[in-house]
Amino acid sequence: MPVFDRPSILVHHAVVSILVLFSASGHPQALPCRLIQNTAVCNNFQLSTVPTHLSQQTEEIFLDNNLLVNLQDGCLSRYPNLRTFSCANNHLRTVEKNVFSKSPLQNLNFAENELCYGHEQVAQALSYLTQLKTLDLSGNGLTEDMVALLLQNLSSIETLYLSRNAMLRLDRSTFRGLDQLKELNVERNLLFEIDGAFDHMKKLKRLNLAFNCLPCLVGFEMTQLVVLNASHNSIEWFITNQDLQETFQLETLDLSDNQLIFFPFLPTRNRIKTLFLSNNLIDFYQHLANNASSNWTTSVEYYNLGKNVSNVTMNLWNESLHGDLSHVELLDLSGNQVNYFPEGFIQQMPRLYWLKLRRNCLQSFSLTPEDLPVTLYELDVSKNRLIELKTSQRSISELNNLTYLNLSSNGLLKFPPGIFTSLPSITTIDLSHNPVDVCDSEESDYMSFSACFVWSNIVTLKHLYLADCSIQNIPSSAFQGSPLTHLELSNNPDLQINQESLIGLTDTLQHLGLGNTGFQNFDFSPYTRLKSLNLSKNFISELPASLMSLNLNLLDLRDNMLTTIPLDHAATLAQRLQAVYMNGNAFNCCQLDWFRTFKEYNSIKVVDQSEITCLDSNYRWHKVVLFNAVRCGHTNNGESIVWYILLFATVSLSIVGISIIYLLTFKPKMLPRAIKKRCWRPTSY
Ligand SMILES: *[C@@H]1O[C@H](CO)[C@@H](O)[C@H](O)[C@H]1NC(C)=O
Ligand SMILES: *[C@@H]1O[C@H](CO)[C@@H](O)[C@H](O)[C@H]1NC(C)=O
Ligand SMILES: *[C@@H]1O[C@H](CO)[C@@H](O)[C@H](O)[C@H]1NC(C)=O
Ligand SMILES: *[C@@H]1O[C@H](CO)[C@@H](O)[C@H](O)[C@H]1NC(C)=O
Ligand SMILES: *[C@@H]1O[C@H](CO)[C@@H](O)[C@H](O)[C@H]1NC(C)=O
Ligand SMILES: *[C@@H]1O[C@H](CO)[C@@H](O)[C@H](O)[C@H]1NC(C)=O
Ligand SMILES: *[C@@H]1O[C@H](CO)[C@@H](O)[C@H](O)[C@H]1NC(C)=O
Ligand SMILES: *[C@@H]1O[C@H](CO)[C@@H](O)[C@H](O)[C@H]1NC(C)=O
Ligand SMILES: *[C@@H]1O[C@H](CO)[C@@H](O)[C@H](O)[C@H]1NC(C)=O
Repeated sequence: MPVFDRPSILVHHAVVSILVLFSASGHPQALPCRLIQNTAVCNNFQLSTVPTHLSQQTEEIFLDNNLLVNLQDGCLSRYPNLRTFSCANNHLRTVEKNVFSKSPLQNLNFAENELCYGHEQVAQALSYLTQLKTLDLSGNGLTEDMVALLLQNLSSIETLYLSRNAMLRLDRSTFRGLDQLKELNVERNLLFEIDGAFDHMKKLKRLNLAFNCLPCLVGFEMTQLVVLNASHNSIEWFITNQDLQETFQLETLDLSDNQLIFFPFLPTRNRIKTLFLSNNLIDFYQHLANNASSNWTTSVEYYNLGKNVSNVTMNLWNESLHGDLSHVELLDLSGNQVNYFPEGFIQQMPRLYWLKLRRNCLQSFSLTPEDLPVTLYELDVSKNRLIELKTSQRSISELNNLTYLNLSSNGLLKFPPGIFTSLPSITTIDLSHNPVDVCDSEESDYMSFSACFVWSNIVTLKHLYLADCSIQNIPSSAFQGSPLTHLELSNNPDLQINQESLIGLTDTLQHLGLGNTGFQNFDFSPYTRLKSLNLSKNFISELPASLMSLNLNLLDLRDNMLTTIPLDHAATLAQRLQAVYMNGNAFNCCQLDWFRTFKEYNSIKVVDQSEITCLDSNYRWHKVVLFNAVRCGHTNNGESIVWYILLFATVSLSIVGISIIYLLTFKPKMLPRAIKKRCWRPTSY
């Protein structure tokens, strides 16, 4: 069925004529197809057939985003050296039987077509491709039976893409004979079961099963696999075949966005480096093991639904089930239900660099070299229920690779003294949304536990986030000796910040967050490196003049009480700023020259421009972008005089008109009366 209509056929003829014309006149570089050595790129030309006038030496043809519906026998016979043929995103339904006969094709891309309609014929055509290495059949509406037929004789394939199709289950017959496969992608199908489909693929290294409906991966024994992506399924259990003593080659395991209840039961021997487990239901249950007082089931059994009945029985709560973690460098457990870690659990990962524990249920955490590997580089324990960070016998300074520490959104009250000062490489600390305070140095020397920190003289610290900590007072020189470039103090509404508080930061500070801090006034002029300043949600009615001496890129002035910005300030800001936020102020609609100035400069972006409102003289709100200056009293003085003159002229004209009509109408009567009057006058004669 031709999907194209008449105009596209015309276009096609035109294209072919151009091809003929130009090849005749010997200027092949002017063809609609871009030719680069032996590659022809003919994407986006509304073509409905394969161009027939390309060089016979052509090795690669790209026909993506055209209108092909059918590949006819012989359409590639002119190109005996063709290695790559790409026909993605067309409307292909059939490929005639002999299209690929004798073809040495190695890469074939049929992604985003409609091959489900003519798959039987396509299968016959494909079976000629004895040298095919890479095949892309993504997005063709294929079921597993169609796939099995299409791949029947393609034993040379090494890379196969089948994402966005309609496969429900894979078994031994689906990929029969594909023994050379190294990479397989079946993401975004509807798979709910896999039964021995990969057993024979001894070379498979990368397998992507993401975005399917798999309920579990049990008896996992693909020792050769290097990357397994099973994210976005409904997996409750991941269980390795524990009887295998071989070393699994697995390096990356992605099980994020599933329903895992237990930490995955990994191979006893493996090389896993990256372990993505975010957004599951994982917790540890070791405290339930050997617990006589409760009747917990301690094992779970799986029954294979296929014919080969084999039970998988697991003894739960057994620590050794976590398998070998000794190669793990990244562990992402964000968004789970972890209450605690079994003793020594994290220490099983002596090469751990990234530990992500955001959004769990941890109540205490041990930031100590006994419990954390000294290699640790980034630690995120934000959004937990931490009240306490535990102390240690050994010096915390052994954690000498720790650079990033996120403890935000907890309820931290107890800290070991001097904890942050002792971390030799720390550059970023986020303690936002915790009840912590900023302390004076002398005071804290003899305080052992307190939620009060000394932030001075942490010589590596660059980024400090203390938003929403209920900080009231920042003592003088509180940050001196710490080379902060980024200081976030927003949402501390009772903060008393003064000139002395930030002493020592004039040469380093680049970002300062003072949103919702009850900000009054501050002389910013010494902070010459400041690039980004947040002053939102304060009660600022006048822009601090010291801002004009800065070279800011970003300024947030939202939710203040500004009524206008003096024109010279507006011009200065417009020249320097890249982005500004202004909505939520009480701008005067008749003093919007600053806005027009901002708009004149292309360099500045008023990010929230459509939301900025202003008040007119009748206390009505208007959108600044829509407000018409004519409505303002003083600016339309000249125009209103014109209106008055116009009105006066109309009235006068009407009066004159009426008089004339009156005169004309009553002319006959008036005439004699005038005569009479004249006659009545006593004459001199
Ligand atoms: C695959 O090869 C076998 C034997 O050569 C043949 O019978 C079968 O028809 C081929 N399959 C397809 C889809 O062409
Ligand atoms: C797994 O696949 C999903 C979907 O394609 C992708 O977003 C994710 O990055 C992949 N994971 C890894 C570790 O590559
Ligand atoms: C046994 O289980 C109970 C109930 O879950 C729990 O409160 C208790 O702490 C457990 N005992 C041990 C020794 O872990
Ligand atoms: C444990 O099981 C026994 C027998 O099945 C039962 O009588 C007892 O109440 C159970 N105990 C608990 C704590 O559930
Ligand atoms: C599977 O487990 C069931 C129940 O425990 C048992 O009856 C059956 O014999 C087991 N089958 C195999 C193959 O182990
Ligand atoms: C835990 O599992 C390992 C290996 O499967 C086994 O050797 C060990 O005895 C088990 N431990 C317990 C307490 O069940
Ligand atoms: C520190 O962590 C980084 C990870 O970015 C790693 O490359 C480096 O080897 C680690 N250093 C030590 C001493 O562990
Ligand atoms: C810390 O974690 C919170 C929430 O998990 C996140 O919003 C914030 O951006 C992180 N802080 C830094 C400095 O990355
Ligand atoms: C400025 O700080 C406020 C919090 O007071 C925050 O909501 C806003 O997103 C910040 N502005 C920018 C541009 O990040």
